[in-house]
Amino acid sequence: MSKTLHYKLDKEGIVTLTIDVPDRSMNVLTPELTREIAEYADKVSSDEKVKGVVIVSGKDSFIAGADLKDLVTAYDRGATLKQCYDWSQELSQAYRKLETCGKPVAVAINGVALGGGLELCLACHYRVLSDHPKAVIGLPESQVGLLPGAGGTQRLPRLIGIREALPLMLEGRHVRPDKALALGIVHEIAPVAELEARARKWVLEKGDPEAPWDKKGFKVPGGAGGMHPGAAQTFMVGNALTSKTTQNNYPAALGIMSSVYEGTAMPIDKGLQIESKYFAQLLAGPVARNMMRTLFINKGLADKLARRPKGVEKSQVKKLGILGAGMMGAGVAYVSASAGMEVVLLDTDLASAEKGKQYSASLLAKQLERGKMDQAKGEAVLGMIKPSTDYADLEGCNLVIEAVFESREIKADVTAKAEAVIPATSVFASNTSTLPITGLAQASKRPDQFIGIHFFSPVDKMPLVEIIVGEKTSDETIAKALDYVGQLRKTPIVVNDSRGFYTSRCFGTYTNEGMTLLQEGVNPALIENVARQAGMPVGPLAVADEVAIELAYKVMKQTEMDMGKAYKRPTSYELVDKFVNELGRKGKRSGKGFYAYPEGGRKHLWEGLAEIYPLAAEQPAAEEVKTRLLYIQALETARCVEEGVVTHPEDADIGSIFGWGFPPYTGGTLSFIDTVGLENFVSECDRLAAAYGERFQVSDWLRARARQGENFYPVPAELGASAA
Ligand code: NAI
Repeated sequence: MSKTLHYKLDKEGIVTLTIDVPDRSMNVLTPELTREIAEYADKVSSDEKVKGVVIVSGKDSFIAGADLKDLVTAYDRGATLKQCYDWSQELSQAYRKLETCGKPVAVAINGVALGGGLELCLACHYRVLSDHPKAVIGLPESQVGLLPGAGGTQRLPRLIGIREALPLMLEGRHVRPDKALALGIVHEIAPVAELEARARKWVLEKGDPEAPWDKKGFKVPGGAGGMHPGAAQTFMVGNALTSKTTQNNYPAALGIMSSVYEGTAMPIDKGLQIESKYFAQLLAGPVARNMMRTLFINKGLADKLARRPKGVEKSQVKKLGILGAGMMGAGVAYVSASAGMEVVLLDTDLASAEKGKQYSASLLAKQLERGKMDQAKGEAVLGMIKPSTDYADLEGCNLVIEAVFESREIKADVTAKAEAVIPATSVFASNTSTLPITGLAQASKRPDQFIGIHFFSPVDKMPLVEIIVGEKTSDETIAKALDYVGQLRKTPIVVNDSRGFYTSRCFGTYTNEGMTLLQEGVNPALIENVARQAGMPVGPLAVADEVAIELAYKVMKQTEMDMGKAYKRPTSYELVDKFVNELGRKGKRSGKGFYAYPEGGRKHLWEGLAEIYPLAAEQPAAEEVKTRLLYIQALETARCVEEGVVTHPEDADIGSIFGWGFPPYTGGTLSFIDTVGLENFVSECDRLAAAYGERFQVSDWLRARARQGENFYPVPAELGASAA
């Protein structure tokens, strides 16, 4: 009895196969579906009454992709290359059976067809796609460390040529209907209501049961194989570009290139085997596990507010107050108004508040220019923001977020003033990046309704929001803060209070290590280049300039003042002091820092660095610089777990990638440690501590954990519903 595919043969000899995976809002490729595709391919092949097949979806979209829940455990289960190869071949062979069943097969693609979903379509002889702009198709497997392992790397280049197909797979790009038609990935686009009829018409009137690549004399458009000049050039350029963009940290990119290069020079059946071979190498490795787990499964769960305390009624912010219309306040106003909230944007003078609103106006104008927003919608968003200097305007706000100067006194003052006006049930949040929430909450009459909502700059681009729970913050307040982040469609993580919380604290170790290397006389170009090769988006010196060396100075001074004797000066303390106070090189905003920013020219490392920190005669190996830069961030994350700042490994991993750019191929800071192996990690830290100082010192807690072999993620990880 079929579970996922429904078979119906009509009088004209057309079989309609309806894909409807039970208990899922969207179709995903499950083992049952794979099996049933193969079974029905056999059935239609041997039944003379069947003239052709039309595949449709029983849901309001097509197929979202393979079920990553099955794939993500492969590495932890110790799946062998053979098992991973077989997994790919089973699906690939099922599709091949359909393609060679001897009857014409057309597919009506009524919405999203991604990954294995599009691969199924490519194995059909005729494709009609919905013309609705949301009906995207694509092969996004590389985004989770895999390659399209059900024929994608073989059929797409044979269909549209290697040159067009490679970037679509390497970047995992989504393709809209008009582009899909122009590229020749689909044969027709049509309104959803007409799809099935068009597919049927083709089967009845034209129905060709042979794929182009099964016809005699088939040639890959634009050529294939190393001896073909066009193809050879594509691979040469492709290899260089791929190395540049991935720094060879993403094995999926190389797997795709190899699979296409080798496979397209062979007959399709051989090509499909080659593809499975490369797919198996990826699935059996840690990078795919890490990327699937953090970037897809756990991020998906976080977006659905997995950390929301249970049993608290759902809430919605209708009116939001923002105190401080500077860089952060203005950004928060923009994203909140865009999400439909009424916003009061308050500053000390009206000109500043108006300037904050102007920021939204300029972002909206850009969107209008690019055709991403219409005039009326833009005006409506802008109309939601009311600049003000009057606290009385905060009346009725369900949530107030302060983003005033990073000063305890000013924050205390605005907290009291706002609380005097807002409803007793409202939440008050601070966007502080460094000051402990519990301390700030002392200025509040209702510390249980006080919380940290930490945005990242620029707010409209950065997807992460760090929710910081103070000592007295209630579950209801956490739930309300998460509901607000959900309204913004951003990704929240939840951490406990501590100085610098989680993200600022760990990010600080990265810039500190970069500056320490500079102090030691390591070539700054080496530091910056190795950091990027390791997968960080920006070198530590460049990013220290971006966020301002002066800010690092202020944070150090504030912390020193707060902690007194307990404060341990970071290794870059003197360097930061020198740059800010002696050299006046305070960072990018002030026009100079570790880099020079010539007007109209390109920024470049400041020539004067070598005079202050002469190059050491012996330079470290690139690998050593990389180890120092990555390990220090991961070790600080482990400390956050030890101290209870981070309670869930998925928060740590998501926060590290989306908050400060820890390399995605690692799966995040804790996945990085688990992948290295805790024991190896500890012994490497011991070596680093002996060579470079106590900041690499491992605690007894971590050492004991390593001895007991206790990973940060239980093996295999607990998983939620998922698809890609
Ligand atoms: P900013 O200096 O650009 O803006 C602060 C604004 O607050 C100014 O417009 C100022 O006039 C206003 N302000 C000062 N005192 C006020 C008062 N008593 N009442 C009303 N408004 C007042 O600062 P920025 O960068 O926007 O930072 C604001 C807060 O966000 C700080 O706590 C900072 O630590 C935090 N933060 C900053 C990030 C960044 O990348 N700049 C990232 C995350 C958090």
